[in-house]
Amino acid sequence: MKIILLGPPGAGKGTQAKLISEKFSIPHISTGDIFRKNISEKTPLGIEAKTYMDNGKLVPDEVTIGIVKDRLMEDDCKNGFLLDGFPRTVKQAEALDSFLNDNEQKIDTALLIDVPKEFILERMTGRRVCSKCGASYHIKFNPSKIEGKCDACDGALIQRKDDTEATVKERLDVYDRQTQPLIQYYKDQDILSAVEGTGEITKVFDKICNVLGAVGK
Ligand code: AP5
Ligand code: MG
Ligand code: ZN
Repeated sequence: MKIILLGPPGAGKGTQAKLISEKFSIPHISTGDIFRKNISEKTPLGIEAKTYMDNGKLVPDEVTIGIVKDRLMEDDCKNGFLLDGFPRTVKQAEALDSFLNDNEQKIDTALLIDVPKEFILERMTGRRVCSKCGASYHIKFNPSKIEGKCDACDGALIQRKDDTEATVKERLDVYDRQTQPLIQYYKDQDILSAVEGTGEITKVFDKICNVLGAVGK
């Protein structure tokens, strides 16, 4: 199964991606996580990406597209994958389509997780992420069992640098201008599905499984 997750910052893409990737045994590919790993390892890519990310801007398309193509060529993507946070511009979507087309593959579904803006700020400012494995928590909605520690790997939980109020506003603005057009792009291809991302995490996941079950048939 080849899936794209679409949705505004804080919609719950990373949270749901983890559950989907476990249930359907497909790799979870998050461009944001790839950039954050490079930032923590201070690689040239990380140094380049950091200035954009800290300001809530998109990393340039040429850089991002190259990274995703390399990742999709790895063996574990042969039977499917879940893209989280990519594509984010029409240019990225077109590059992905042409790459998959060249490899005689196609996306099965672009799944939009829709969350109204008024929910987003509280989700982002209360988010804590694992510094080791990237898992997302929330101080109120999804707390870890031991405060400040990841349930999965015991890593320290930290706040993302781009989760401040000002940067979140910029990221929402960037989403509206650059990523929102992809909803129509995938509607036109007849592969868009949407679920409401409000309510409990497990309930949202149930809705997603219903959609993906139908796609799988
Ligand atoms: P990225 O890391 O992709 O960030 P994002 O798209 O802004 O989305 P987030 O990761 O912030 O939110 P999410 O939807 O994953 O929500 P989560 O599950 O964590 O990108 C970061 C930056 O990298 C970009 O700004 C850009 O600079 C760069 N970048 C990445 N990809 C790029 C690309 N393709 N091109 C160019 N640049 C790129 O949930 C959020 C919080 O809500 C958590 O605390 C969670 O516990 C909580 N939560 C989740 N579900 C629920 C629920 N149902 N109810 C209550 N709380 C919930
Ligand atoms: Mg995420
Ligand atoms: Zn962890």
